[in-house]
Amino acid sequence: MTESTTLLKGGRVVAADGEYDADVLVVGEQIAAVGQIEAPDGAAVVDVSGCLLLPGLIDNHTHLTMPFMGMWSQDDYDTGTQAAAAGGVTCIVDFAIQSDPESLQSALTEWQGRAAGTAHVDYGFHMAITAATPAAIEDMAVMVDAGVASFKLFMAYKGALMVRDDELAMAMERARDLGALTMVHAENGDMVDLLVTRARGEGNTSAVHHALTRPEFVEAEATGRAARIAEYTGASLFVVHVTCAAAAAEIEAAQQRGARVSGETCTQYLVNTIDDLRRPGVEGCRYICSPPLRDTANHAPLWDYVGRGVLESVSTDHCPFNDEQKSRGLDDFSLVPNGLPVIQHRLAKLWDEGVMAGHITPSQLVDRTSTTVARRFGLQAKGSITPGKDADIVVFDPAAPRAYGVANSFMNVDYDLYEGETASASVRHTYCRGTLVYDQGEIRTAPGHGKYVARSLSVPEAVTAP
Ligand code: URP
Ligand code: ZN
Ligand code: ZN
Repeated sequence: MTESTTLLKGGRVVAADGEYDADVLVVGEQIAAVGQIEAPDGAAVVDVSGCLLLPGLIDNHTHLTMPFMGMWSQDDYDTGTQAAAAGGVTCIVDFAIQSDPESLQSALTEWQGRAAGTAHVDYGFHMAITAATPAAIEDMAVMVDAGVASFKLFMAYKGALMVRDDELAMAMERARDLGALTMVHAENGDMVDLLVTRARGEGNTSAVHHALTRPEFVEAEATGRAARIAEYTGASLFVVHVTCAAAAAEIEAAQQRGARVSGETCTQYLVNTIDDLRRPGVEGCRYICSPPLRDTANHAPLWDYVGRGVLESVSTDHCPFNDEQKSRGLDDFSLVPNGLPVIQHRLAKLWDEGVMAGHITPSQLVDRTSTTVARRFGLQAKGSITPGKDADIVVFDPAAPRAYGVANSFMNVDYDLYEGETASASVRHTYCRGTLVYDQGEIRTAPGHGKYVARSLSVPEAVTAP
């Protein structure tokens, strides 16, 4: 069978190091050429004039079908990756979560089973270690061999996912020896537990108290502690979902000391605030996530950390729960499942509130959502529009507004955080390995187009971010 050939004609390629007008030739699953290209015989020619061509976005932080607080997050690998594609995402890295203290393999098998034959875009896995037993530490090598090049540990969610500092240190040492990346959810879980117990005892149970019982110092302290342990062990550390300047400052300080520490923030921490938790009833509960949304004063510093590359990724931490699930904590915030539905909206939000607002350039957007993310997480075939890479391409129309809202959402939740707002620009087409997945409001692929991507961090890290 001859390979399909598509020529994207007349667009403007945005790369991490600049922008230029160019046609892009796709043959089979890969990018064959970039430049001024005459259509080969038999090629399908797609007019993309007026559009930007971005490398497919990578979401390095998602929770599809996640068991959490006695519930399941509502997007599976089918709906979640449809929403991803609608938002220009061609690869996600989701979290498999250890449930057997003696094994990591059993969790990987479980998550692989959920995703196989279901996803529309490509996917990889991090492994979340919830009990760093000798057997689990041993199993980390098996994970690396299976293409799971990163391990996450929770410093919060006491009594559930949280690990002790000695467990964190041992996991970091093993990851260092295996050439893998350690990731942390950095909040001081003991302090959170104390503050939550006190708030409930005092009758402070509405949604905003979720944020008030997880103050910034709780996150900054844990971030600094994790960074110090990484520095001591010589491990490479990535701090997930950084919400505030105080925590980002700990990362930058570690970098200045020469430690291999970096991190991400998420879309919602750049555009939402603690005031969203003050909305009435279940509306306030929809915004409960951990660490919590902060005040507006954190937005400008966070954009600055993103712009300077101290925070090298903007992901989503997509973890959607519907109103019925969120309502379980109407009278007690500590019962509300933590997590927000965002996977579809990252590009449009970062475009309007990042690029159009002058905080970051289009190239920085591409870098922090694709190019550097691919490098950090060992996705060698992804992250840029260059010959030989996977043909993961977003055709993004900067002059095509699109309304946010349930009516336009592929996410499997019964509300949209940005209902009533309109994005100034939108995704026209998303190609994953040369196949058109999302096409002007429609999903074109069957479940199963998305394939597992084995990741490896054994190639040298490149250096500069624009
Ligand atoms: O609230 C959040 N972030 N939910 C997902 C789990 C996590 O901590 O990443
Ligand atoms: Zn987390
Ligand atoms: Zn998360």
